[in-house]
Amino acid sequence: MAKIIAGIGSSHVPAIGAALDNNKTEEPYWKRVFSGFEKSQEWMRQTKPDVAIVVYNDHASTFSVEMIPTFALGCAAEFPPADEGWGPRPVPVVEGHPALASHIAQSVILDEFDLTICNKMEVDHGMTVPMNLLFGKIDKTSHWPCPVVPLAVNVVMYPPPTGHRCYMLGRAIKKAVESYPDDLRVVIFGTGGLSHQISGPRAGLINSKWDKNFLDNLSKNPQKLIKIPHVDYMREAGAEGIEMVMWLIMRGALDDKVDEVYRFYTVPASNTAVGHIILANRERGAKIAARHKPAGKHKSTARHKRAAARAKVERVRG
Ligand code: DHB
Ligand code: FE
Repeated sequence: MAKIIAGIGSSHVPAIGAALDNNKTEEPYWKRVFSGFEKSQEWMRQTKPDVAIVVYNDHASTFSVEMIPTFALGCAAEFPPADEGWGPRPVPVVEGHPALASHIAQSVILDEFDLTICNKMEVDHGMTVPMNLLFGKIDKTSHWPCPVVPLAVNVVMYPPPTGHRCYMLGRAIKKAVESYPDDLRVVIFGTGGLSHQISGPRAGLINSKWDKNFLDNLSKNPQKLIKIPHVDYMREAGAEGIEMVMWLIMRGALDDKVDEVYRFYTVPASNTAVGHIILANRERGAKIAARHKPAGKHKSTARHKRAAARAKVERVRG
């Protein structure tokens, strides 16, 4: 059985990709941003997921204002980087996982979430920047460390989906993954945000208090976040702050209680607040083992021993 082991939230500021591609990561301005992801890259190297589901938004790269699916699932075998005006980013083609993607499409659509199925699509900074932040810089002739199931969400043209709808879609994705027969360890990314506004009189808006509160609740009390209406995101986090609803798909795909493994927040990158969080599901085997460990009086049963052994293997695997 496949399972989601952790969720990752990350901003996708395009200037971060440009800094990486133009070898500016050691400049003090950019070092402040990239150094916040060093521990995460180490965590990712140890975790070695088999697949990543990346929830992101397309910025009129593969879609356009003429055609905007609310939720679009990438079922193709590969997703080339899009040309966003300066030529495609020098990153590897993203390899898909058509079998898992098709399984998710079937499970989620039969659960009444009407996804658009995409058998051909290019991916822009919304996906490639968070992947670089978590997997590091990878030569375009090489490979990303794991295949990806992309889920593109409309947050560029009104009306985007509600936070509640996003969270419930995450729940349906969790169910879909858990009914996939192969033993895959899956991570899910929620990307975009945090507070930012790119144009108009409020361009440059950043609201750190709102952002930090969002991260706190994402970790401990997501039920509070799913009630936030669009207008509050717009007012408090700026017009493009609405990208944050995508983090709720990631959170919905995790267990109710999670461990916050890591968090990073810095302002600004370009004119955007950069937020990042890693939330891990508590391992069921570990939980069973821990619950029975202090009870010295009770004899450890074979079932508990097997659970403890499974938990140990999980920890060694990272
Ligand atoms: C910018 C663009 C984005 O898509 C985003 O999420 C943040 C910043 C920008 O153009 O600076
Ligand atoms: Fe964006």
